[in-house]
Amino acid sequence: MNKIILAFSILVTSNAYLSATPKENINLNTTSISESASQADPNSVKAKGKFQLVTLNYGYSDLEKSIDAETMEIHYSKHYLGYTNNLNNAIIGTEMENQSIETILKNLDMNNSAVRNNGGGYYNHSLYFSTMSPKGGGSPKGEIANEIKKDFGSFDELKKQLSDAGAKQFGSGWAWLILTEDGKLAVTSTANQDNPLMPNQTVKGTPILGIDVWEHAYYLRYQNKRADYLNAYFNVVDWDAVNNNYRNAIKK
Ligand SMILES: [Fe+2]
Repeated sequence: MNKIILAFSILVTSNAYLSATPKENINLNTTSISESASQADPNSVKAKGKFQLVTLNYGYSDLEKSIDAETMEIHYSKHYLGYTNNLNNAIIGTEMENQSIETILKNLDMNNSAVRNNGGGYYNHSLYFSTMSPKGGGSPKGEIANEIKKDFGSFDELKKQLSDAGAKQFGSGWAWLILTEDGKLAVTSTANQDNPLMPNQTVKGTPILGIDVWEHAYYLRYQNKRADYLNAYFNVVDWDAVNNNYRNAIKK
């Protein structure tokens, strides 16, 4: 009888060990990746050359309710930094070295793929990262709330149009809220790193809010569910920043 109990006890212990070991390893790895992204400092990321990244007033893990820390870190410190360094290299020795990014994009030769992709990537990501906040979300406030009501009828309608624009953009691209040249708000989308400032766009204007729908912006948490990411984005959109962008756009 004792032998039976001993054998049973070894079997249980072995199974517990075998099943617990891989689980523990997976958890440890996940924790370590997530901790490293949470602890990394966005302000230590510096571009080389004229154009610099926008400074984040939040950490990579601070938008966790909508976007995970690892995605934020890779997006900011790898993708955004890459576009910025590539733009800086592409304009060396040209008149663009002395121009603002808006002037560069408005007068862009669309066949100049280095500046089109990287100048667009720089401008678009600068807007994206500076228009999110851990204190964001909720309903629009201030001047932009009135303009949204005037041009869309309601925030729900704007949200629907922006979400549709992002969801229907085939492949990589952006969904935009822009101020058009006739002073109205409009929703549009663009492919790749194009934006509504560039020549030959179907709908032109100054972006005041941009949602990145490239897979690198959401895939780790949302996989193929782009619509869920778009919905979650509205929990971190910074309406104070959108108001600032709007005020700057109407001055131009
Ligand atoms: Fe991106």
